[in-house]
Amino acid sequence: MNKYAIIGGTGLTQLEGLTIRDASFIETPYGAPSAEILRGEYVGREVLFLARHGHPHRIPPHEVNYRANLWALRQAGATHVIAINAVGGITDNLKTGCFCIPDQIIDYTSGREHTLYEGELDHVTHVDFSYPYDEVLRKRLIAAVAACGYNCSNSGVYGCTQGPRLETAAEIIRMERDGCDIVGMTGMPEAVLARELGLSYACLALVVNPAAGKSTGMITMTQIDAALNVGMSKAKIILARLLSGI
Ligand code: HPA
Repeated sequence: MNKYAIIGGTGLTQLEGLTIRDASFIETPYGAPSAEILRGEYVGREVLFLARHGHPHRIPPHEVNYRANLWALRQAGATHVIAINAVGGITDNLKTGCFCIPDQIIDYTSGREHTLYEGELDHVTHVDFSYPYDEVLRKRLIAAVAACGYNCSNSGVYGCTQGPRLETAAEIIRMERDGCDIVGMTGMPEAVLARELGLSYACLALVVNPAAGKSTGMITMTQIDAALNVGMSKAKIILARLLSGI
């Protein structure tokens, strides 16, 4: 049976409206996940919820134990994972407040624990990652956002940087040349670990600021927080729409 899990990012450490049935802290061979995995009902559907940065928010993107998070979710029975990510907008159409459901990703991170395949193994270790997101789940997200009437790009390339600092304007120009539409710090290795574990994975990204050099002013946390407040409320409505339709 399909079981949906939501990984809440910055601004979504809690899913109000989730009737919690169980909260379990799952130890994994990779250490501890960011938080307890909550099992409960959201709009009448059983779902799992995990706060990527912990609850309260305390783990920076480069220190998230992505391996433990994904492992624990699968251990809890997840088959599908919807990742919620706050991002900066690179392409002109991706303004603050807009959603993007990326169909591709470029990994600019370094030094993260990015695979479950370690040491001597007796099975194939090269997962196909040509299309990093699950197309069926992406389509469901696209339909849910459309039904809510929110601004959204139905495709896009997510460039994942190491952080925690934001990018330089030159880095964003390079990323734009590479074909990136949005920039964030948490898309990888989460997506590939989901693939290694056989989980269907898609991302709902919310643009919370223009990427470096894409506006005249500085990028401030005040500006980001304001966009998170509005946008993550919408993300919850999108999730409710998606889950009630499956
Ligand atoms: N860059 C990287 N990560 C981000 C940004 C950004 O501009 N905004 C939100 N997460």
